[in-house]
Amino acid sequence: MPDVLDRAASLTGQWGEGRHEPRMPNMRKILVTSALPYANGHIHIGHLVEYIQTDIWVRFQKLRGNRCVYMCADDTHGTAIMLRAKQEGISEEELIAKMQRAHVADFAAFHVEFDNYGSTHSPENRALCEEIWAAIRKAGMVHEQEVEQLYDTVHGMFLADRQVRGTCPRCRAADQPGDNCSACGAHYSPSELLDPVSVASGTRPEVRTHPHLFIDVDKQHAFLDEWTQTGGHLQPEIANYLKAYFLNEPLKDWDVSRPAPYFGFEIPDSPGNYWYVWFDAPIGYIASTWEWCKRTGEDFDGWWDERKGGETEIHHFIGKDITYFHTLFWPAMLKVSRFSLPRKIRIHGFLTVDGAKMSKSKGTFVLASTYLKHLDPSYLRYYYAAKLSDRVDDIDLNLDEFAARVNSDMVGNIVNLASRTARFAGKTGLAAEYPEDGGLFEQAARDGAAIAEAYEACDYAQAVRLILAAGDRANKYIEDRAPWNLKKEGRIEELREVCTVGLNLFRQLAVYLAPVLPELARRAGELLGEPIEHWRQSEEPLLGAAIGKFAHMMKRVERSKVERMIADSAEPVEEAPAAPGPPPPADSDEPLRREPLAEECAFDDFQKVDLRVARVLTAEPVVGADKLLKLTLGLGGEVTRTVFAGIKQAYEPEQLVGQLVVCAANLKARKMKFGLSEGMVVASGPGGKDVFLLRPDPGARPGQRVH
Ligand code: MSP
Ligand code: ZN
Repeated sequence: MPDVLDRAASLTGQWGEGRHEPRMPNMRKILVTSALPYANGHIHIGHLVEYIQTDIWVRFQKLRGNRCVYMCADDTHGTAIMLRAKQEGISEEELIAKMQRAHVADFAAFHVEFDNYGSTHSPENRALCEEIWAAIRKAGMVHEQEVEQLYDTVHGMFLADRQVRGTCPRCRAADQPGDNCSACGAHYSPSELLDPVSVASGTRPEVRTHPHLFIDVDKQHAFLDEWTQTGGHLQPEIANYLKAYFLNEPLKDWDVSRPAPYFGFEIPDSPGNYWYVWFDAPIGYIASTWEWCKRTGEDFDGWWDERKGGETEIHHFIGKDITYFHTLFWPAMLKVSRFSLPRKIRIHGFLTVDGAKMSKSKGTFVLASTYLKHLDPSYLRYYYAAKLSDRVDDIDLNLDEFAARVNSDMVGNIVNLASRTARFAGKTGLAAEYPEDGGLFEQAARDGAAIAEAYEACDYAQAVRLILAAGDRANKYIEDRAPWNLKKEGRIEELREVCTVGLNLFRQLAVYLAPVLPELARRAGELLGEPIEHWRQSEEPLLGAAIGKFAHMMKRVERSKVERMIADSAEPVEEAPAAPGPPPPADSDEPLRREPLAEECAFDDFQKVDLRVARVLTAEPVVGADKLLKLTLGLGGEVTRTVFAGIKQAYEPEQLVGQLVVCAANLKARKMKFGLSEGMVVASGPGGKDVFLLRPDPGARPGQRVH
């Protein structure tokens, strides 16, 4: 390992001396991360939920005067990257460099401001992986075990579970993913699939056996039990979920190596094997911090070393889909290698658009860059803030509500305060003494504590509610005092007073909104001749100042532009079967076109299946099955069927109750682990989150036969 990458060097003072910035007594030292986006796809509005959520929190901390840094990086390793590079005919290095530039540009355009944006394919990350790996080895937590994996002979590579599809070995449902069956919920390994097909080449892969390295995560069971269940590191619903589903039994060993060829880091003590992308990805949080330390002269260990970084708070923001990696594997890795553990992992839900999963064919799979061609990024920042709470619930971008809320809350309420007073104040300036305002300024200043508390807790929706309420009170004051009449009547002293109150109330709210709307805060600062830099500016009115020229702060959302953005995002669904080739990127909802058709089915055989319109009467999750929902279906009259359907990842139970579905009503009842299943619901899609129930026309009646 080259000297410059030896972390021990930092202990002997290479950059260990660091910068000693003066610290205020109550100032917190906070390191914040967002999940590292995969380098195999562009940033879309779903990702932005997370990066905007995190950026708001970081900006809030900075505004409060805390020392807070925001680290991120691209997640660059793994088979999906290899396939995409192949597909584009470029090297992996070229692909990840190109993607990083695109990601950085998208984030900057949405005012997401990192202190460092690195890459997991960096020398720093490699050195840290080696250090952490050595610690895990030393703790006796690694063992070797033979693993059967499917190998694509066309591409000359091993396939990840999701890159193989085939017939379920249990229920024989066709076209199931390589890890579990969406029809019956069975878990299996891809080599157990009947008729496996590589989605990369469309050919039948070979089974090859290779030794893999496993981490014995269960050796940290007691620690993980305590860490996840106490100390407030996790939201209560997450702690309960982990306890119920994982911590009540031994934790499974974690397979962390992949045989060559693999785009990643080779494991130094296991030549020809590479760390699985999820091993080196979170270490990228540390590596990015290290890059930043080198650039700025900061003391690295003061941020991440368990012994020296004790007072540093680490906060990870992630989406619910990657909970397991961050709440079990990651703390175990950190603990064993004596890096600092996170203070909190803040988990958010998924974005839906108009109540449904983002979809390319509907045009709701909107890339950040497409959004920017049509709409102001501040709109989305505001809308997400107004919807985000400290809970793990999914958030819905309702396009009508989006336009309506931005227009009424931001343009009609907050910005209106400035536009109704600034022009007059441009002539009068602000009064030298703060006028009587009926206690409005004081009340909003007092509200600052509750607003700050809401931001701290990530309950931005609550912060926004309080801010809007203050805005309503301020607008009422302006209506009552009607500055436009004062102007007409030449009552200039009074006009100045009213504008002084109005603009100061506006400024208070601009301070409170600065984490969400940095651009609005910047323009407010320009108008008032004093940049907004600290939360405290909401406590003292600004007096005696001249007012700049009023320029537009935020325009109304035009519904037609929203529609154009959706039209611009819509991709026609291709129908023709394509030639064998690499698969669509992992986050795509393109139909998979390369699956061979199932064996021919005689017309009479098909006629035996009795398909009926059914109404979902109840829907509930099944304890112990992460794919299944238990549905009661009404088939008209008193006839009901209980069905276990593998659709849990695609639908919330509440969302289904009352909906019409199509049910195969005459299937022989099947005894499943969780109870008797008396039919099946008809759905399409590759599985997991990508399952789409077939919906009868809303006018159809339960019990009607489907032809
Ligand atoms: N590369 C991994 C993370 C490694 S962290 C050590 C990854 N990348 S991702 O690009 O798929 O997702 C990045 C983040 O965006 C994740 O936290 C993920 O949950 C979040 N989101 C991706 N799509 C999303 C939505 N549609 N809605 C909300 N968040 C989403 O996972
Ligand atoms: Zn099955």
